[in-house]
Amino acid sequence: MEYNKKSVKDVDVNGKKILLRCDFNVPMAKDGSGVITDDKRIRAALPTIQYLLENNAAVIACSHMGKPKGEWKPELSMAPVAARLSELLGKEVILAKDIVGEDAKAKAAALQPGQILLLENLRYDAGETKNNPDFAKALADLAGEDGIYVSDAFGTVHRAHASTAGVAAYLPAVSGFLIQKELDVIGGALAAPKRPLVAILGGSKVSSKIGVINNLLEIADTIIIGGGMAYTFSAAQGGKVGNSLLEEDWKEYSLEMIQKAKDKGVKLLLPVDTVIADKFAPDANSDVVTAGEIPDGWEGLDIGPKTVELYCNAVADAGTVIWNGPMGVFEFEKFAVGTKAVAEALSKTDAITIIGGGDSAAAVQQLGYADKMTHISTGGGASLEFMEGKVLPGIACLQDK
Ligand code: 3PG
Repeated sequence: MEYNKKSVKDVDVNGKKILLRCDFNVPMAKDGSGVITDDKRIRAALPTIQYLLENNAAVIACSHMGKPKGEWKPELSMAPVAARLSELLGKEVILAKDIVGEDAKAKAAALQPGQILLLENLRYDAGETKNNPDFAKALADLAGEDGIYVSDAFGTVHRAHASTAGVAAYLPAVSGFLIQKELDVIGGALAAPKRPLVAILGGSKVSSKIGVINNLLEIADTIIIGGGMAYTFSAAQGGKVGNSLLEEDWKEYSLEMIQKAKDKGVKLLLPVDTVIADKFAPDANSDVVTAGEIPDGWEGLDIGPKTVELYCNAVADAGTVIWNGPMGVFEFEKFAVGTKAVAEALSKTDAITIIGGGDSAAAVQQLGYADKMTHISTGGGASLEFMEGKVLPGIACLQDK
């Protein structure tokens, strides 16, 4: 797939003020200490930031953090990000005390080429998620008359918010290197994959993966289903699923997908056995049963050993593997075996391996296989919507080449 949007390289940034939207929505320690537990998204923004600074631009960076819903929540301040970014860049990152208020305006006006300013959490202002035009205009105004908007927030391109889409009405809008890379790699794997293309889809709900299953059935050679959503497929075919996660309303749809796979000649692999637990807890008693034979009072929390073998074999022969969603409740050590095995199989295959953001990216990272993968996306929801073939507002608003 050819990326047809303008990038920072297609505009003259010399001496200009750049409003740079990043996705610095990073995981923080739960104890409120302000410690960033994974700085991957900050690192992923560095190539664009460095390019802009080296090319004599003044960078006004901005991002959301969490979901403060228009409230000023100090625990969601961008201060820890400013500190980490400063360490990584080896230079000062000026932090504004507000977003488009007096402090941000004064600091943006005084900003010199080669300097970087970070605005406070965009979602402290309710206008951000509402895509309020006045808020978008106020953001654009920080960059001044000949300012440029650069979006590099791949993780947020599926949101039509003021800073991800609205602002493009007021400034020339181009992408940074991260967006370009994400779209090149994921888009390339979907448009012209090295075959066989194997898609591994896990996670708890069929309802949140419908679009992606449906779209990948048009493209993939094999689709592997794991995680909680497998029980809806099992129940739809008459299996007993005990207390497992079940979406009654999606049984019909699951059957349609099974039929569509047959019609299209796509191999659809479902679990053949299941690790069950007597409660949803890390210390639950466990057992292994044939899929569709889960006794009452028990629930499936992971794929079983035969399924692990089946899925790992499918991955071993693949040309390209796209993985989105864990195979079981990997947060509980006892039920992380399936997810770990798949991650390990991916780390050993010669296939191009693309990991959707969110849980699967976290699993691969936790297990230490991150540098064995071809690409780990920085976008969870964004990569999923891209794989669904949806129009992404944060991309659509950028200037075409
Ligand atoms: C993410 O973490 O997936 C992105 O930063 C988007 O966040 P959101 O789901 O709160 O819009």
